Amino acid sequence: MTGFDTRAIHAGGAPDPLTGDVVAPIHLSTTFRQEFPGELLAGYEYGRCANPTRSALQENLCALEGGLAAYSFASGMAAEDAFFRALVRPGDHVVLGLDAYGGSYRMIDSVYGAMGVTHATVDLSDVATLDAHLAGTRTRIVRIETPSNPVMTIVDIAAVSEVAHRHGAVVLVDNTFATPALQRPLELGADAVVHSTTKYLGGHSDVLGGALVLTNADHAQAVYNIQNWLGAVSSPFDAYLTLRGIKTLGVRMERHSHNALALAHAVTGHPAVATVHYPGLPSHPGHVIAAQQMHSFGGMMSLTLAGGPEAARVLTTRTEIFTLAPSLGGVESLIEWPSGMTHTSVEGTALAVPHNLVRLAVGIETEADLVSDLRQALDSLSR
Ligand SMILES: Cc1ncc(COP(=O)(O)O)c(C=O)c1O
Repeated sequence: MTGFDTRAIHAGGAPDPLTGDVVAPIHLSTTFRQEFPGELLAGYEYGRCANPTRSALQENLCALEGGLAAYSFASGMAAEDAFFRALVRPGDHVVLGLDAYGGSYRMIDSVYGAMGVTHATVDLSDVATLDAHLAGTRTRIVRIETPSNPVMTIVDIAAVSEVAHRHGAVVLVDNTFATPALQRPLELGADAVVHSTTKYLGGHSDVLGGALVLTNADHAQAVYNIQNWLGAVSSPFDAYLTLRGIKTLGVRMERHSHNALALAHAVTGHPAVATVHYPGLPSHPGHVIAAQQMHSFGGMMSLTLAGGPEAARVLTTRTEIFTLAPSLGGVESLIEWPSGMTHTSVEGTALAVPHNLVRLAVGIETEADLVSDLRQALDSLSR
C-alpha cells in the first residue's frame, strides 16, 4: 500500500474478519475478557491502556507520516505535553522558532518553565544562529512549526534537523498546518511530529484531538507510558470521527490549497492589504523552501492590513462566508484576529503577533464565492 490516499483510506481499517465491517467499528468497552489472568485475547486489557478504535487511528497516523509508532490524545496540547513529559527533565533547554501556536509557547513557558526547563526563541530560518545557540546550551528539543501559526513562516526542516542532531537535540515538528498530505517531516530528518488533529485531520470542526508520530523506539515507549499511565487519550468516538475525516484528507488539502492560492493572488495589491502571508506566493520569503518540502501550500494565510489594528478587527466582522471564529482545518472558511484571540498568550513576548494581522483558514467552498466575500469585506474598509 504505497499511495498516500490509499493509506489514508485503508491503513488501520482492514475489514473485520468476523463481521466483514468495512468501516472500523467504535469499540466502547472499557474492559476486555481474559482467558486466564494476564492472558489477553487480542492485546486489549483496559481502555486507558489500549482500545481497538484508538489503535486503528494510531496505525493510520503512523502510516501517513511514515513513523515507527503513533499515539493519539484528547487534544493537540495533550499530545505535545505527553512528548515533553516523556523527554524533558529539569535543567534541560528547549528551542522554538520566532512564531508558534500561542498555547504551545504558554505550555513551554509556564508549565515546563515552572519545572526548571529553560527555553529560547531563535530564528530557525538562520541555521548559523541556531548552531551557535545550541553550542552554548543543553538543548533537549528543537520545536519547529512550519508553516507557522499565524505568520506562515517557513522553516527548512532538513537543515534544522541536521544542525539539531549534531548538538544531540531531538527535533519535534508541529505538522498541523501542512498535514502529512502536503509535508512529511520524518522523511526530511525530524524525529517526531505533533498534530492538533482537531484541525485538518478531523477536518469538520467537530472533534478535538491530538497525535504524536515517532521514529525512535525509546521515545515511543516513553510516550506510550505517559499515554497509558496518565490517560489523556482520545475517546473511541473521537478516534472514529478523526479516522473518518482522514479518509478525505488528500482531496480536501488539494482544494484548501487551490482556494487559498486563488485568494492570495486575488487580494495581493488590494489597497487595504499591506502584506499577504502565503507561502505559495513567489514573493513569500519561504517560498523556495516551501516548494521543496511541501506538495502544495495549504489552506492557511494571513494578511497585515494597511489600516492598522482597527481595520484588522473590523475586517473580521465584515465577511459573510468566512465565519469569525478561532481554529482552522474544517471544510468551512474562518477568519480571526490572532493578537486578540488565538495568540493573546504570547502578547509581550518575542512571539507577539502584529495587531494589524488577520488569519484566514480558507475552506473548500466555491472559489469565486470566497474571493468575492473577502474582496467586498476589504472594499468596505474604505467606505
Ligand atoms: C499549530 C497548532 N498546534 C497545536 C494546537 C493545539 O491543538 P488543540 O487545540 O487540539 O489542543 C493548535 C490549536 O489551535 C495549533 O493551531
